[in-house]
Amino acid sequence: MKVTVVGAGAVGATCADNIARKELCQELVLLDIKEGIAEGKAQDMMQTAALLGFDTKITGSTNDYSKTAGSDVVVITSGLPRKPGMTREELIGVNAGIVRGVTQNILQNSPDAIIIIISNPMDTMTYLSLTATKIPKNRIIGMGGALDSARFRYQLSQQLDCSPADLNAIVVGGHGDTTMIPLIRLATWNSVPVTKFLSENQQKEIIADTMVGGATLTKLIGTSAWYAPGAAGASLVESIIRDEKKLISCCVALDGEYGQKDICLGVPVVIGKSGWEKIVDLGLNEEEQALFNKSAEAVRNMNDVLKTL
Ligand code: LAC
Repeated sequence: MKVTVVGAGAVGATCADNIARKELCQELVLLDIKEGIAEGKAQDMMQTAALLGFDTKITGSTNDYSKTAGSDVVVITSGLPRKPGMTREELIGVNAGIVRGVTQNILQNSPDAIIIIISNPMDTMTYLSLTATKIPKNRIIGMGGALDSARFRYQLSQQLDCSPADLNAIVVGGHGDTTMIPLIRLATWNSVPVTKFLSENQQKEIIADTMVGGATLTKLIGTSAWYAPGAAGASLVESIIRDEKKLISCCVALDGEYGQKDICLGVPVVIGKSGWEKIVDLGLNEEEQALFNKSAEAVRNMNDVLKTL
């Protein structure tokens, strides 16, 4: 198996590091446009192999896409990260051009690759990759919901004083501070609904903190987060390569599911060797469906901006 991670910034490098530690593939290529960065980080990571005992061969490349040829899975993290006070949506102008070019270069060298999009604004970048390339929709997966659901579990675990691993909780909708929908009604602590243990106010606080999870970190660190985004990307690579069929919230093309069409938005999907294999219906109640429709409207407005670029 061969995996490429495009963008050797903090998110891309962390994603690659997670992939290597788990030995998800024999060959791992890290590619960046900035001279030397990918080669340097690949070598640095390879020097952990003796310490950590992994067998994945990591190589770096400065923008030479021929090195990525024959990749089974490609993770795209390219583009600018957000700065404090910025929304993910403000990155569209610069990142759309970058993501379009990267996706085309990747497919020229790996026509059968499954593509995972991390670049922001993630929902629109996923839609752009799908519409610009016209590859089968199951091979384009936006990572947002996987990350947001992990952040939701973290926030729940803080209030419940329990292990995040014991929590089952999902975020659907867009990957934006105001468009994501943490579905607290459906969240469980080892099969017991979490709402049983939390006051209305606690629930509101958890939802609000989850929604601004990325912004909170950007303010603290001065740039976008990378540990959880990188790990979320690697978890999708793992479910594809090991054909795990995990049920993960991801941004995928909707064709009538959840009442939406011609849009990529976060819903629970089964992730396996063919990419996203099926969409699972959560049976949203009226209020949740209304939030989902509102989220779709905001993402659709952002997708419309693509036409003006
Ligand atoms: C975040 C970025 C990766 O949420 O979208 O941290």
